[in-house]
Amino acid sequence: MNETEQTPKIAILGAGLIGVAWAALFQHHGADVCVWDPEPDALAATAGRMNAPMAQLFEVAPDAGPRGTLTLCETLAEAVTGADLIQENAPEAIALKHALYADVEPLMAPDAVLASSTSALTWSDLRPGLKDPARLITAHPFNPPHLVPLVEIYGTDPDRIARAEAIYRAADRVPVRLKKDATGHIANRLASALWREAVFMVQDGIADVEAIDAALVNGPGLRWSVLGAHMAYHLGGGTGGMAGYLAHLGPSQERRWAALGAPSLTQDVQDALVAGVMREAAGREVAELETVRDKALIAALRARKDAPQV
Ligand SMILES: NC(=O)c1ccc[n+]([C@@H]2O[C@H](COP(=O)([O-])OP(=O)(O)OC[C@H]3O[C@@H](n4cnc5c(N)ncnc54)[C@H](O)[C@@H]3O)[C@@H](O)[C@H]2O)c1
Repeated sequence: MNETEQTPKIAILGAGLIGVAWAALFQHHGADVCVWDPEPDALAATAGRMNAPMAQLFEVAPDAGPRGTLTLCETLAEAVTGADLIQENAPEAIALKHALYADVEPLMAPDAVLASSTSALTWSDLRPGLKDPARLITAHPFNPPHLVPLVEIYGTDPDRIARAEAIYRAADRVPVRLKKDATGHIANRLASALWREAVFMVQDGIADVEAIDAALVNGPGLRWSVLGAHMAYHLGGGTGGMAGYLAHLGPSQERRWAALGAPSLTQDVQDALVAGVMREAAGREVAELETVRDKALIAALRARKDAPQV
């Protein structure tokens, strides 16, 4: 946070997996953070659960400047009053979010932004909870939000979107705007399309779970961390770029699309997926796998600071 800028106040509603990570991120980057959760145990556990992400943030962004304050709020009003950005991370249940917004709206400052972390509800799904829907944006992070920089944004008020983007950028995030409200935003649509084919390949017996994951991580996944799906094919066209690629391999691409499958999550397919990831995990518990993932993500984020992005 630049010293000449006013310190933003951020309200974090819901202190689960995502809320705790947001709280750590914003506090690390100098914002004053107020956390509220209706479950007293979740609220009480918040500061302790922030220790690990705070330590990781110190590795990723050691020069972020002085931390902001952290306040654990026993009431919704305490958290929301005076907040510039209210980041909602309540469970993914539409009625619950509507009821929460009905409580939040009378408490929030007139020009504050109510930002939902929702994974797969749309802005249109969420707006019936509000008298003034312009106050709402969807601002979807990618797990773990304190490490993965993406925030996907949709809303209808350009001023609020711009103010929210400035807050996310100050916290070292990369906001990306949707032009149209869409289920799964951008990244979860891409991830879902890819996983649909990954599951189909298991169902169809093309390859095992471990082989598919190894192919992804050691092939396109590596390339996609430095350039996007479209730009990859611009480079795939050589000196002819995207136009050359489409002329040369466009018909082949259409044949490949036609060969893609539509799996169903039958019991057999589910059993094969579970058995496959258990083989891949090789006895490691989820917490241990998360630690390995975070260590690798931190190393990749540090490397990206020195590497130009295409
Ligand atoms: N888990 C992910 O990978 C992921 C990624 C991106 C976005 N999201 C989205 O973030 C949101 C939260 O997901 P999560 O994984 O952190 O869930 P979670 O279950 O870990 O946490 C939800 C928290 O909300 C609290 N809560 C319950 N009722 C509430 C209410 N009325 N108001 C406020 N808080 C309430 C719970 O006590 C809990 O602490 C969801 O909308 C989800 O779609 C999740």
